[in-house]
Amino acid sequence: MIINQKTLLILFFAAAFINPGAVSAQEANHCIAQKSPLKMSIEAGQVVYSGLCISCHLADGAGSSNKNPSLVKTRSVLGNKRDLIECIIKGNYQHAEIEAQKFQNTMPPHPELTDTEIANVLTYVRRSFGNKASAIKPSEVKTVRAEIKM
Ligand code: HEC
Repeated sequence: MIINQKTLLILFFAAAFINPGAVSAQEANHCIAQKSPLKMSIEAGQVVYSGLCISCHLADGAGSSNKNPSLVKTRSVLGNKRDLIECIIKGNYQHAEIEAQKFQNTMPPHPELTDTEIANVLTYVRRSFGNKASAIKPSEVKTVRAEIKM
């Protein structure tokens, strides 16, 4: 075999790929598997929840009877995204009866949260406490926010 420039180049790249390449590719895969967009949204949402929601709805989403509703597998949590988004922005000022119960506390409004923060916290709620509903996107929050302002 004639060792010319081209062969040297091929050998160089082959050597660069064999050892360190294998390890870092594995690490990269590991990272991607752990940090899917859904997982990142849920993690970010948990931070918002811990700061603003946990005092009433509790760490396991169970709430407290008569005061704060449970967020575990209720119709409104698993159901209509629009109502959920509106509930976070405007607060649940209507004191609607939820699953035939009335609650003494008032759900405070959080219009100051960004579209992404609201999407994340609702995605966290919809994917935690045994809930298995679809994620909520920042674009969906943006749409509802614009509708509320009209
Ligand atoms: C001061 C206590 C309090 C805090 C803090 C609070 N909530 Fe609420 N939340 C309530 C109450 C009370 C209701 C019931 C609505 C009503 O009758 O006003 C409610 C209703 C809800 C609902 C609707 C439940 C249903 O079944 O209709 C969701 C979802 C919700 N809260 C999520 C959140 C999230 C997410 C946060 C944090 C951003 C939060 N809440 C912060 C008290 C609170």
